[in-house]
Amino acid sequence: MSEKIAYHNQREIGYIGLALLRQWLVGENEIIEQLYSDFSKILQLVEIDKQSVAILEGIRDGYDKWSKIYDLMPNILIDVEQPVVEQMLQGISGEKAIDIACGTGRCSSLLIDLGFAVTGVDLSKDMLKQAKRKSLDIDFHQIDINAEDLPFDKCSFDLATLLLALTHFKDISVPIQKMHDLLKPGGYCILSDIHPWIVELGGQADYIDEIGSMHFVRNYVHSHSKYIRAFNLVGFKIVDCQEPILEEEHIGKIASGFAVSKKTLVTALSGLPLALVWKLKKE
Ligand SMILES: C[S@@+](CC[C@H](N)C(=O)[O-])C[C@H]1O[C@@H](n2cnc3c(N)ncnc32)[C@H](O)[C@@H]1O
Repeated sequence: MSEKIAYHNQREIGYIGLALLRQWLVGENEIIEQLYSDFSKILQLVEIDKQSVAILEGIRDGYDKWSKIYDLMPNILIDVEQPVVEQMLQGISGEKAIDIACGTGRCSSLLIDLGFAVTGVDLSKDMLKQAKRKSLDIDFHQIDINAEDLPFDKCSFDLATLLLALTHFKDISVPIQKMHDLLKPGGYCILSDIHPWIVELGGQADYIDEIGSMHFVRNYVHSHSKYIRAFNLVGFKIVDCQEPILEEEHIGKIASGFAVSKKTLVTALSGLPLALVWKLKKE
């Protein structure tokens, strides 16, 4: 079931506010003038933007609809996250890997390239359909890992990955427990997600469909302490943790989608961590 939510240029006004906060006492006059000029322009657009609505989707429906364009749209979260994931995968060896919430198979194909026999699991049949179209030699399963027992032997995988999906879970301890159960002792786990700061600043999993309507799947904030508690509870050792940041080049890719200047977006967002990536080991 989906719900319609009016958006009123809220993000643009928020970014101007964030940019002004980051310039407080230490900013340059020229930038601050530009921010006030953007603010007065945006106030005139609010009445028009009141008619725009975003459609809140459940996870399964949201990703089924998103699947057709998921690999085609620019995704700056993936741009900052993937090099870190690839770096953390280096040096992990073994035979079997499981990619949980595999989506259209982005990480599954990296794991194939590294020589693993790969199992992919996802809730959305249409995301899996896109993954299967890539003819990857992967054993795919449509499973809700929150709700269902996984049909795999415990302690049977050398590597488990779960990229860019935990933010959709209210409680991250369940998937973290399941990944730990699936791994052999000495096995590795790579987790990545949108950074909790960005979710706090309104980051949702949004996309524009083929006819121009905005849809989104709800994100939840998971702080570092919440992750660490969940890791400690099951006995995962933290091997590495990285927080790749947003640079001006990433912001340039999305600036045209906002009714404020690129300079405002850069002042608001550059230097903020966009992703949180963990490398863990089952002891
Ligand atoms: C943003 S996509 C990420 C896909 C892929 N991991 C990647 O990084 O490219 C999030 C994926 O998580 C999946 N997902 C969310 N909740 C899930 C659950 N409870 N069980 C299985 N998959 C889930 C969605 O269906 C979607 O394909």
